[in-house]
Amino acid sequence: MTDANWGFETRQVHSGAAADPTTGAVVTPIYQTTAYQFRDSKHAADLFALGEIGNIYTRIMNPTQAVVEARVAALEGAPDTAVGLPGALALASGQAASTTAILNLAGAGDHIVASAALYGGTYNLFRHSLAKIGIDFTFVEDPDNLEEWRAAARPNTKAFFGESIGNPMNNFLDIRGVADVAHEVGVPLIIDNTVATPWLIRPFEHGADIVVHSATKFIGGHANSIGGVLVDAGSFDFSANDRFPGFTEPDPTYNGLSYWPALGPGSYVIKARVQILRDYGAAVSPFNAFMFVQGLETLSLRMERHNANARAVVDFLDGHPQVERIQYAGLAGSPWHQRATEITGGNGVNASFEAVGKPQTIETAIWARDLAGTCVIIGVADQQASYDLPIAKFFDLGGSLRISWYGDCLPTRDFPLLSQWYAQGQLDLDRVVTRIITLDETEEAFHAMERGETLRSVIRL
Ligand SMILES: Cc1ncc(COP(=O)(O)O)c(C=O)c1O
Repeated sequence: MTDANWGFETRQVHSGAAADPTTGAVVTPIYQTTAYQFRDSKHAADLFALGEIGNIYTRIMNPTQAVVEARVAALEGAPDTAVGLPGALALASGQAASTTAILNLAGAGDHIVASAALYGGTYNLFRHSLAKIGIDFTFVEDPDNLEEWRAAARPNTKAFFGESIGNPMNNFLDIRGVADVAHEVGVPLIIDNTVATPWLIRPFEHGADIVVHSATKFIGGHANSIGGVLVDAGSFDFSANDRFPGFTEPDPTYNGLSYWPALGPGSYVIKARVQILRDYGAAVSPFNAFMFVQGLETLSLRMERHNANARAVVDFLDGHPQVERIQYAGLAGSPWHQRATEITGGNGVNASFEAVGKPQTIETAIWARDLAGTCVIIGVADQQASYDLPIAKFFDLGGSLRISWYGDCLPTRDFPLLSQWYAQGQLDLDRVVTRIITLDETEEAFHAMERGETLRSVIRL
């Protein structure tokens, strides 16, 4: 359950879960089951016909998954659906969430307008894989230009799609402006809210209709589980024009049920579950769902620290002689400064920044390697992957190095040490091995330096 009066942090800990009434266990169990016992054959028939909503098979629904769904719905501000299910659907990955979001609206011969400032995997999915099955995409090169969005729309357009904070550009989308244009055209706006998370931005408050997440990132927060979430504001009327026959015309697989108006607001996420997830099968595993429940409990705390870390690093790099340019929406010079401040309501500015440094400087190369390039994942507490790219390689790259950094959330307090060590010439740069020193290891690193040993590890931020 979720109480409307609960604040963000109470929701992230309690929404969707309660102590087990039989055992008293307080932690959500991992319901590692594929199937569920029907009371009798009528019960089974009702479930299959959607006459009654309940667990049938874990590809479609699972009690551990349900806690993630209720919790993310509560954090994003999505209402429950008419059938009592939360307005969210957990899926196997962020990619599965985006794919489901589109397939729930569009098929061969249809068209989507998307921001060009997208995560590369989403761009490939749209530009190549979904294009292969006949869904056409137009990419808005300047997502700040609302006229470009408007001009891209066609009679067969089914949705607008953008990221609230673009990965890796760190641009803040004008969610309200793009939503207004989408609604004038007669289509919903889908927002990928992975980088911002609902702690920083709740797109429904700015006019978006549908949200997708890669739960793999900040929601999970520990680099141990792949997953995604699709969330429905229940705000879009799929019967207002004739673009969405998939909602208004009978579905033969449910005895001719029309999702709209039968299921009303929220029918988008129900259709995504009972039709797209049922058929394409990108279900999240109960174990991963359990890990997301754990991650969600500390989301606000980690996001606060990510923000603080980003600020600390930006403060160091801003004006640094070896940094040519820094893009961080918290700085007044950023084109997205005002929008970021308005959208986030002063609740922090951004979990990330982008710096462009001079490649001929060793320090910049180290920054690039230590701050950014060690791992493919963003938004985790402690990035363990090691990446020992030779420094010389950075010089081969030519031009400027672009550093996109999303920040581990733990070692803020260690940051000044790194710059101090650089300044004192205490790092043997040729021998540096990029590896995280956890907080415990920091002490040991100090002792190694005192003993005059080559420091082979660098604290990463
Ligand atoms: C903004 C964004 N959306 C979607 C995805 C895809 O998520 P997943 O890797 O969970 O499939 C990612 C992955 O990095 C991402 O950064």
